[in-house]
Amino acid sequence: MIDEFLNKIKLERVHELDYEILKRYGVQKGNQLIFEMEKLFSLSEQRVKQRRDIDPYVLRQPEMVNFCNQNPEFSLLISSYYDYHTFRVFMKKLSVYHQYFGEKILDVGCGNGILTCFLSLLMPDSHIVGTDISEKALGSAVFIRDKLNLKNVEFIPHQKISKSKFNTVISIRCMHENTGAIQETASKRQANIYEQAVEKYLKSIAAYLESEGIFFSIERDAGKISEMYLEKTAKNYYHVIHKEKMLCIEGKEKAEFQLRLSKKSCII
Ligand SMILES: C[S@@+](CC[C@H](N)C(=O)[O-])C[C@H]1O[C@@H](n2cnc3c(N)ncnc32)[C@H](O)[C@@H]1O
Repeated sequence: MIDEFLNKIKLERVHELDYEILKRYGVQKGNQLIFEMEKLFSLSEQRVKQRRDIDPYVLRQPEMVNFCNQNPEFSLLISSYYDYHTFRVFMKKLSVYHQYFGEKILDVGCGNGILTCFLSLLMPDSHIVGTDISEKALGSAVFIRDKLNLKNVEFIPHQKISKSKFNTVISIRCMHENTGAIQETASKRQANIYEQAVEKYLKSIAAYLESEGIFFSIERDAGKISEMYLEKTAKNYYHVIHKEKMLCIEGKEKAEFQLRLSKKSCII
């Protein structure tokens, strides 16, 4: 099912991104795209270097998200390079754990909606809502959904999500953009900022969930200290049913993730 899905949306392994961009877009346009992307990468690096210790939100990269999703074809190319292996691993996990999910599912920070659309195929009797703060990303998501002719998934801008409750909320690679991460050398003040950001994020997810609803997350493994604060705060809202570590290859880098399946345990 995963291979068939990836074939349908034309997500294929790309080994050299610059080469592929030049091949698809020609030298002039291709070089422009590569130049723009390099500029955005160095902007991110600068932000991380300059503001890491004072701003936990530095890891959010809205310009990069919008650039990568400037049109659906480009978004799929970027995902083919950065996410091909990661998506396969995530899709396998969704295939295993979707039995816990309910009829109304919210995918927070759905990006270009590839995983949301895969889930909609896995769960034809559920209604799935994907949401994101990037309208560009949602544009790619709608394109992919329509290409697959999926009728049980809709994509709604973040600010337009109503207060309605869902049985299941999914957060995949979204939390770190809202909390950042924290180092072992962090000061008390940094730890406070981080803790508050984690609290805010987990609480906002709980607010979307019906009582005893399921929260499924796959988030970057941000290290021991981040994990400690996460565990401590998560206890206020969720009861963890299962968690596991996952290793993925993103582009040429290895990335570790934590998968968590939790049940909401508070009243909001
Ligand atoms: C790294 S991408 C992951 C996309 C998708 N979940 C995936 O794994 O392919 C993170 C996405 O989360 C979105 N995002 C970050 N914070 C958000 C928030 N508080 N609410 C909605 N979307 C958010 C970003 O715009 C971006 O598209």
